[in-house]
Amino acid sequence: MPRDAPLVQSCAKYGGSREHTLRPPPPGRRVNLKAVQRAMVRAPMTDSASATSFPKSEIKILLLENVHESAHEIFRREGFHVEAMSRALSEDELVEKLAGGVHLLGIRSKTHVTKRVLEAGKRLLSVGAFCIGTNQIDLEAAKIHGVPVFNAPFSNTRSVAELIIGEIVMLSRQLGDRSREVHEGKWRKTATSSYEVRGKTLGIIGYGHIGSQVGVLAEAMGMRVISHDIRPTLPMGNNKAVDSLEALLRTSDFVTLHVPETPQTKNMIGESELSKMKDGAYLLNLSRGTVVDVDALARAITSKKLAGAALDVYPQEPEKNSDDFASVVRGLPNVVLTPHIGGSTAEAQEAIGREVANVLSRFTNTGATTGAVNFPVVELPMADGAHRVLNVHRNVPGVLRDIHRLISDRNANVIAQQLATDPAVGYLVMDLDKEVASDVRKAIAALETSIKTRILY
Ligand code: NAI
Repeated sequence: MPRDAPLVQSCAKYGGSREHTLRPPPPGRRVNLKAVQRAMVRAPMTDSASATSFPKSEIKILLLENVHESAHEIFRREGFHVEAMSRALSEDELVEKLAGGVHLLGIRSKTHVTKRVLEAGKRLLSVGAFCIGTNQIDLEAAKIHGVPVFNAPFSNTRSVAELIIGEIVMLSRQLGDRSREVHEGKWRKTATSSYEVRGKTLGIIGYGHIGSQVGVLAEAMGMRVISHDIRPTLPMGNNKAVDSLEALLRTSDFVTLHVPETPQTKNMIGESELSKMKDGAYLLNLSRGTVVDVDALARAITSKKLAGAALDVYPQEPEKNSDDFASVVRGLPNVVLTPHIGGSTAEAQEAIGREVANVLSRFTNTGATTGAVNFPVVELPMADGAHRVLNVHRNVPGVLRDIHRLISDRNANVIAQQLATDPAVGYLVMDLDKEVASDVRKAIAALETSIKTRILY
């Protein structure tokens, strides 16, 4: 066969039906290291749905805690092998499962992905948190093991925001108490302590995805909206950002919390903050249980400092639906308690399933880490006619030099390359000539600094 004759290879065994055209490189072509280092070559995007070096049916996905069917559908369409379980697994159970060779793990909030679990998951490529929070995962350990973690930051935003609006009305009309009384056969028709929400001030602490949606909806009901965040944010509608938490607490009729769980937000609303709130104001926490000191809140309700509160999250939450719930806030007047259902709607669950399954599939097929919560972000369009080598390495001096030497030694042509680092790890994605990519992958994988190396074609 003449040297430049195209070889046509079917990709069907990888679950796709495309044909790839392979051309041997021109003789003597050498890697241009300068160009590589300038890198970030933007190659044309190709259909990557079938791009995997591994038979797709052998990519094993373990989905726990009743991950929505919408995710199963996406994985099935990709041709991956899916095992689904309705419950969370204990650490020991998870270690055993992962040691059996799981490539992608999908969890919700109850499964804990610890360092030990990650050490057992030798084949683990990525973890998908089919929820918002990722506190249940040891993110640092995952990164050190070359495992990006993805979540669904926006899919249930609207569900939480709508519940907040409903609860603002509930609190200002004491609907929880009135409803309970009528269920008990008591008729207490009264206008005492019942108010419209129109014209009242809503103070939003944490003006992120949910906080800003709440503000938009609240304005539609005629509320005045103010907010406080630790970072500069773009105010939506007529919302006004206030300078300090104290300013917000002193002027709001309703205070709603939409912050993440961090050391700074732990008990950020305690005795002192509650005392700064207006007499007869209301507090809503549908963010994280540790953000409010519930003992102090119970005292503020009992002393009538506050006229009511709505809580969806608690410092200690039951593990299972059948477990009892104990809390000092139970049984208090005009306190609406819900069992962490802020984001639990059919729409949100379906959207979360789709969102996380799509990013996991994309990462598996192309190596893209956009949206990962613990990993350097690389998003390199797939180049035509190339094989892709993906390498996670310890971020120590000399790694790139070693990798580029390996490439150069093999006379390999780098078609595109992108590197992103953080202090602990570097993530390098390279598109190379098909003829050399496998050899380069093996050589890079053998470097002492390499954590995880794979190839896609
Ligand atoms: P986000 O990340 O979009 O917004 C959080 C905002 O809080 C950011 O703008 C951040 O700058 C700000 N922030 C962080 N620390 C702060 C501090 N000390 N003081 C003031 N602002 C601070 O998050 P998103 O999606 O809006 O979620 C907010 C919270 O809601 C999270 O804790 C999340 O876990 C919780 N959540 C609860 C659900 C439920 O079922 N009840 C469902 C979905 C989310």
